[in-house]
Amino acid sequence: MASVKKQVTYAFQSQKYASSRQFYCVLMFLVIMYVMVVYNFALTYFNGDTLVSAKETSVEETEFIQVIRNFFDRDYVSQRMLLEERQILNEKLKNYSLFELEEPISDADPSNIARTYAIVPPNIKLEEKLRVVYKKRLAACVIEKNMSTVLASIMCFLEDNKAFAEANRTITGEHFWTRFCKDKNEHNSIEDLLRTTHTKLEDWIMFALVRDPLERLLSAFVDKCILNRESEMDKSCYGCKQNIRCFVRNVYWRAKSFAENHEKNYNMEDVHTFPQNWHCSFKDRTNKMKIIKYYSEFKERKRTYAKIVDVLKEADIRPALISEVLDQIMAGSTYHTTINSPEKELARKKVTNSEDLMDMIYSLYYHDYLMFDFPFEYKDVHV
Ligand SMILES: *[C@@H]1O[C@H](CO)[C@@H](O)[C@H](O)[C@H]1NC(C)=O
Ligand SMILES: *[C@@H]1O[C@H](CO)[C@@H](O)[C@H](O)[C@H]1NC(C)=O
Ligand SMILES: *[C@@H]1O[C@H](CO)[C@@H](O)[C@H](O)[C@H]1NC(C)=O
Repeated sequence: MASVKKQVTYAFQSQKYASSRQFYCVLMFLVIMYVMVVYNFALTYFNGDTLVSAKETSVEETEFIQVIRNFFDRDYVSQRMLLEERQILNEKLKNYSLFELEEPISDADPSNIARTYAIVPPNIKLEEKLRVVYKKRLAACVIEKNMSTVLASIMCFLEDNKAFAEANRTITGEHFWTRFCKDKNEHNSIEDLLRTTHTKLEDWIMFALVRDPLERLLSAFVDKCILNRESEMDKSCYGCKQNIRCFVRNVYWRAKSFAENHEKNYNMEDVHTFPQNWHCSFKDRTNKMKIIKYYSEFKERKRTYAKIVDVLKEADIRPALISEVLDQIMAGSTYHTTINSPEKELARKKVTNSEDLMDMIYSLYYHDYLMFDFPFEYKDVHV
């Protein structure tokens, strides 16, 4: 009786062993397939009389490989598809004439400045706002404001383009307070980014858009003092009403005091007017942070877009997504808006005709001019 029971148990166990052996076989097969596919190992076989190696067929990937890859990688795109997308992107770049744009020659000559006012020191830590595409290890440091909203939307779109589209968002239709990616792909320091992603600085491609300091100051003036002046008259525009001289002086003395007293208090105006090199920890990230210049003039702006495309390509963003970004920013309001409003032109005349104000601006942004290589001379450049 007991031996029968033993036999039954034995039979049962051996069956279990057999089934688990099968299971491990299947598992091993899957693991090997996975490794082969993910690491692109050559799969060589005969197709009729032709020797086919999956590694060599960069265009004609075997369907088998495609199916397996699709299964393991949600974002997988076949080589053939990528090639097509690349061709379309190149055609688009040509259509938008974003090819072969030469750099303007910069004559950032510090000897041009009068130094009536003490130069505001560089590399004070103000803000570091990063917008990230995690999968591609791509981070943009955004400096307030206009184009920074667009740049942040681009990063948001690239981080999860499907969710972005499903939420009916568009790259140029985003607003700061209602942005889709709020708290999703955002970090307030590079240290925070590296800590939460368990990565090293070398793993990342980082870039930032910077503007011509005077253009940026004038935009801030028009925005704070003219367009939005109904809101909190006393506080916005430093209480300067519409006085550009008052505005420039306030920025200069506030920035100087902020730098000297290692203060922690600053307001929204300061974020838009204090030197750009105080953002993004530029000094500590020398050679790491790619600098892309952003201009007000549309024909100059195309150069900015071309440079952004270069960075996205370098980060291995899918060409179809880059095309989409291009279509949206070229078609969006940023394309057609008259950037240089009459108010801004007037403010620019007032400033550039005043030696005193220009001295102050050069001293205020001295290190921006040098670090980002903007010309100190405005006579004929920005009319
Ligand atoms: C480029 O422009 C041509 C002519 O206007 C047009 O036919 C073509 O579809 C455009 N290509 C892309 C990729 O937009
Ligand atoms: C900034 O955005 C505002 C409104 O969104 C727009 O009217 C203005 O032209 C933009 N300025 C620049 C320099 O793009
Ligand atoms: C997006 O738009 C479509 C069509 O207009 C609508 O059916 C859908 O509910 C919208 N989705 C969201 C999240 O608003």
